[in-house]
Amino acid sequence: MTNTTVTLQVHRFAPRPERDRGSSPFARTSSPFGSSGERRRRPRGKQWVQEYTLEARPEDTVLDCLLTIKRTIDPTLAFRYSCGHGMCGSDAASVNGTPTLLCTATLKDWAKPCVPGSATDDEGFRSTGEPGAGTVSATEHSETGGRNLGVIELAALPGFPVQRDLIADIDPMLEQIKKLKPFLQADGVLATTKGGKVDVFEYLQHPDELARYEQLSNCIACGVCEGSCPVFAGGDAFIGPAALISASRFINDSRDSAAQARLDAIDTADGVPACQSVRACTRECPRGIDVGEEMWQIVAKVRER
Ligand code: SF4
Ligand code: FES
Repeated sequence: MTNTTVTLQVHRFAPRPERDRGSSPFARTSSPFGSSGERRRRPRGKQWVQEYTLEARPEDTVLDCLLTIKRTIDPTLAFRYSCGHGMCGSDAASVNGTPTLLCTATLKDWAKPCVPGSATDDEGFRSTGEPGAGTVSATEHSETGGRNLGVIELAALPGFPVQRDLIADIDPMLEQIKKLKPFLQADGVLATTKGGKVDVFEYLQHPDELARYEQLSNCIACGVCEGSCPVFAGGDAFIGPAALISASRFINDSRDSAAQARLDAIDTADGVPACQSVRACTRECPRGIDVGEEMWQIVAKVRER
């Protein structure tokens, strides 16, 4: 048992049930996100802010708290995670308005001094006092009454349609990455012998050549850089920094033979020329990639051709 608590203010979203959407004669699709052409539209549903106060230690992560809420307070709260330690990128969300990973955001770093009754609807979110939809406290059931570490505001990753609560639909980013062929294209790597067997051979690489893309290969496609980028905002006008980082990783790989085709593929209206060099993408990359600097270099490579 701890003697400290934290309050999470969660911007929640529940999509309209399937049967309600289907009943409209104007409904163009049964998906909450529409067909692929409509994917980036904001899905319709109920939005509100819900506060949870629970016992937690300063070194706990936001993900630890969400798991406690899910297991002991409110099983309806939806969020996504997998590895739990900054390796998979599946739990990117907005923490106090900043895109970051829930599993690496600690309370001591993110909790802000508590302002009582601060769950508002400034963003159009509805804060209700209904049972199960307003403030829910785990400490009501404890005898501790300890110090409150502060408040942390949570919302789904910006720049993407929200699916439910803290879960964003990151398919637009994954589609953009896939479009740029995120795999090695090396001539002759699968040559066959006369007997029809795959003739595998080594591609030797100097450490200097590896250093040119090694850091970029650490990208986990979490979408934090896209959520931070004011130009990306759904990916309609700009394919986004994550897709360009993925392209750059192979452009810089001495084993890859498709660099020119890759540069052509990103020299489009929604590619490199759409980057406004805001550099917001660099600030919170959980893998330590200097995304803004890399974007700068890829812009220079495209221009120099
Ligand atoms: S570059 Fe960094 S912030 Fe962007 S998707 Fe990759 S790991 Fe996430
Ligand atoms: S859960 Fe995998 S990065 Fe956070």
